[in-house]
Amino acid sequence: MTCLSGIIGYLLTESRYGKAIQRMAMFSKDLGIDLGTMFTRLADSSQVLAQQPTIVAIETAEQKMVAVGQEALDMYGRVPESIEVARPLKNGVIADYEITETLLSYLIRQVSGSMRLIRPRVMISVPNGVTSVERRAVYEAVLEAGSREAYLIQQPLAAALGVDLPIGSPSGNMVICLGGGCVEAAVMAMYGVVSAETLRSGGLDFDEAIVNYVRRKYGVVIGQTTAEQLKTRIGAAVPQDTENSMEVQGQDQVTGLPRPVTLTTGEIVEALQDPLKSVIETGRRVLEKTPPELVADIIDRGVALCGGGALLRGVDKLLTKSLGIPAYLVDTPLTCVVEGAVKALPMYPILKRTLPQV
Ligand SMILES: Nc1ncnc2c1ncn2[C@@H]1O[C@H](COP(=O)(O)OP(=O)(O)OP(=O)(O)O)[C@@H](O)[C@H]1O
Ligand SMILES: [Mg+2]
Repeated sequence: MTCLSGIIGYLLTESRYGKAIQRMAMFSKDLGIDLGTMFTRLADSSQVLAQQPTIVAIETAEQKMVAVGQEALDMYGRVPESIEVARPLKNGVIADYEITETLLSYLIRQVSGSMRLIRPRVMISVPNGVTSVERRAVYEAVLEAGSREAYLIQQPLAAALGVDLPIGSPSGNMVICLGGGCVEAAVMAMYGVVSAETLRSGGLDFDEAIVNYVRRKYGVVIGQTTAEQLKTRIGAAVPQDTENSMEVQGQDQVTGLPRPVTLTTGEIVEALQDPLKSVIETGRRVLEKTPPELVADIIDRGVALCGGGALLRGVDKLLTKSLGIPAYLVDTPLTCVVEGAVKALPMYPILKRTLPQV
């Protein structure tokens, strides 16, 4: 036994195999993953490696994966019954474990390339308010998907690290992440989350509000993708000086026949008022729970807005006015969470006490 462990020890340290193993360890990858309701992003310490819609096409009879990400999204609504195109996340949390794991292992393999044998160490973001069962599901899915070690980080904390907010200091930093499935507002200091609120609705509900508005006002039913196009192309959170308009195709609610309808920026602003009120409320509730000293810091520094929803025109103005604190769009609203997640890995010893445990 002693002899055998001696030989293994020699192979691991002295031989050329040992040197190769040491070299492989040196190259071992650290990956950050932002598992979002709409998009999943992977990054290493130098760049974003993959950015794909969180969607998978499955052959239902044999449960075989047919397509992942953009390719699966392109199939949406255009496949026979034998294929299911599914979004495995709902409001920021895993709704279908198997599909999530399939998607993650595909993406991890894809970004690992020739280093496939060396399993990466992964830091993955989760919404702040998730339950222990939801946390466990993410943790297990990442491990099953082929990572060597897995750690979880709260989405707003990752975003703050991703945009280099000074969260290690004892002063307050506030972030609002406006995602596709959830909105998270949090105040951070001393590498930890001091107060946070998660609203389990997001950009998809903005689209839904537009669908409902068009149906109520014009008696025309439009699809979610069309509503999203209206939101991103001509939409805004507050009235704009220049009004844009866009014609879309819908279906007459009474006759069922195709009917075009033209919407303006002002109408989209009106349609989005209710979901926007919920976002403001989420920010307000966090500020109410935050110690006054930290609020004073946030008034000086402002609120960083990230996530795809932060790209809605005028959302910074609306939040600045409603919260009484300057809100600004960060430089990398779509990728700051994944960039922050990978940055957090070497900081694990400092962050350990504040990261979600599984
Ligand atoms: N210019 C824009 N204006 C308004 N909304 C936008 C714009 N661009 C993207 N979005 C919205 O951003 C959302 C996607 O954002 P993001 O990628 O941050 O979400 P996610 O991380 O997948 O979701 P979550 O964090 O909630 O799980 C979509 O709802 C999309 O419609
Ligand atoms: Mg997100």
